[in-house]
Amino acid sequence: MKIFLDTANIEEIRNGVATGTVSGVTTNPSIISKENKTFRKCIDDIMAVDTELTVLAEVIAEDKDGMIEEALNLSRISDNIVVKIPITVEGLAAIKVLSRKRIQTTATLIFSLNQAIAASCAGADYVAPFVGRLDDINADGLGLIKLIKKTFAIQNMKTRIIAASLRSPQAVAELFSEGCDIVTMPGKILYAMLKHPLTNAGLKKFNEDWQKVPNE
Ligand code: G3P
Repeated sequence: MKIFLDTANIEEIRNGVATGTVSGVTTNPSIISKENKTFRKCIDDIMAVDTELTVLAEVIAEDKDGMIEEALNLSRISDNIVVKIPITVEGLAAIKVLSRKRIQTTATLIFSLNQAIAASCAGADYVAPFVGRLDDINADGLGLIKLIKKTFAIQNMKTRIIAASLRSPQAVAELFSEGCDIVTMPGKILYAMLKHPLTNAGLKKFNEDWQKVPNE
């Protein structure tokens, strides 16, 4: 069970890592575009926050050979890089080649069980279903995760699930309790996960009562 942050913002990553709960960072072209820095600088800055972070970086090419070339370049940066490949026919072909070269891949933009099955058969290490985007169109994001988990278990597939595109802290608990391996989320969902009003109230009461304890 691992928590990743879905951002390339260094302050958000630094603060999230400081909570002790975050072991990876996921990016995509939209996330990178918010940072006003080159892709390489974004990746280098993320890795500098904590050298043990797993970092997911996405290819831009749409053809197999272009994806493979970008993936090989990314994987040379660090062993901790996992290359994100969109789930297209060309992407699957690239995943197969990269898997044979032992380059770690995540098949991204997964919206159906069949796409997850195809990615796993091609040799993807991870699949990233976009839970929130399914929920946004009144489909069942959590239901898809349950189905993929069950299918991979029945078929004894080693591909792991990274649930992405989160919309609420409740979704995190539901996803992990259904066997999701990794959940990636923005910093605001991480903090919402950690907070509870009864914890704050309990701590306040402890502090107030401690004032009544006589000094040594
Ligand atoms: O990791 C994929 C995720 O960034 C997509 O999230 O919020 O754009 O649906 P969102």
